Amino acid sequence: MSDLKIFSKDIPIKGKRIIVRLDLNVPIKNSEIVDDTRIKVIEPFINQLIENKAKIILISHLGRPKGKVVPELSLEPIFKFLKKKLIGNVYFYKENIDSKAVDSSKKLSPGEVLLFENIRFFKEEESDDETFAKNLSKLGDIYINEAFSCSHRKQASMHKITKFIDSYGGPILEKEIHSINLITKNKKNPVTCIIGGSKISTKINILSSLLKNADNLIIVGAMANNFLKFKGINVRSSLIEKGAEDIVKNITVLAKENKCKIIVPIDCNTSNNFNGKLVYKSLKDLENDDIILDIGKKTIDLINITIDQSNTVFWNGPAGYYENKNFSIGTLSIAKKIAQNTKAKSLISIVGGGDTVAAIKNTGLGKVYTYLSTAGGAFLESLEGKELPGIKVLKNN
Ligand code: 3PG
Repeated sequence: MSDLKIFSKDIPIKGKRIIVRLDLNVPIKNSEIVDDTRIKVIEPFINQLIENKAKIILISHLGRPKGKVVPELSLEPIFKFLKKKLIGNVYFYKENIDSKAVDSSKKLSPGEVLLFENIRFFKEEESDDETFAKNLSKLGDIYINEAFSCSHRKQASMHKITKFIDSYGGPILEKEIHSINLITKNKKNPVTCIIGGSKISTKINILSSLLKNADNLIIVGAMANNFLKFKGINVRSSLIEKGAEDIVKNITVLAKENKCKIIVPIDCNTSNNFNGKLVYKSLKDLENDDIILDIGKKTIDLINITIDQSNTVFWNGPAGYYENKNFSIGTLSIAKKIAQNTKAKSLISIVGGGDTVAAIKNTGLGKVYTYLSTAGGAFLESLEGKELPGIKVLKNN
């Protein structure tokens, strides 16, 4: 990380045009923002640029419009939101990225903000087009990547643009990278990783790489069912992923080789449908129409003990079907325990992933963790040891 160019307060920005690539990819329903976590995270930095009288150009994508104008994926709702939240004037630019756009960026008064329409409405964004990136770069004097969560994408506004403009990583991007290093490079053992969610096949690389760094790997969520089945437990009507046997077998072997202990649920909360009521069951008592929808109380105790014995905890993925409140107990217990130990015992806690953030929304616990990441794929790819294209270019430009 030391060779990464990070934006600092010492860089003079008064009157300069600063392009900030953000991740404003937030859930929107009927033109209303459903979860503003990602926007809240970047607000202080943008307000700081406003206070320091920069001319601010904001670029982001929303969804995957694949190079076409998709009205439902317009940044207009986000523009309205930013207009209310930011301390400076905010304008919205919906036209092409050409000389007229450059003029508009120059016409901004110091401390004003110009938000550009969804950058993925241009097909050249996803193809990392050189001319498009060059035109984008003309909108500013300095470029800041403050979208760690998009940095695994080799796209013009993240990648090629840095070829044409003085480019830096933003402060939140720096924090994300620092927090990944707390699990991989500068870790304080014992390290416990708690991984949940439903699909094991999407997390195979991350599991394989985490168990090389961790002392304990706790598997929860529906993906744990595959491990239970591997142990000979009949999980009845619970979700099982086809072809997961080999994945589980390989992970088990790799864990042994790396002296990483794998911990799986020892009891569960079930129902016979996803919207149903909670029935506590031991694993041996599961009946034909039982679906495992959360970890049980004994598993929660086991996880708590493991967290107590750890100096670093990384958590990604809910422990159960938290969308039904009856099955959010496991997820919320983990969330509380990690927060408690972070506060009381200086546990280093890194919590991340879209579902995890959504599951603990409104609990206030997110503020307690050492780091709460709103990044999904980029965070996981980094943990797998991959160098993200959007980060690599911040080292070499
Ligand atoms: C995310 O939500 O993880 C980022 O905004 C990246 O989105 P993408 O997966 O569509 O590139």
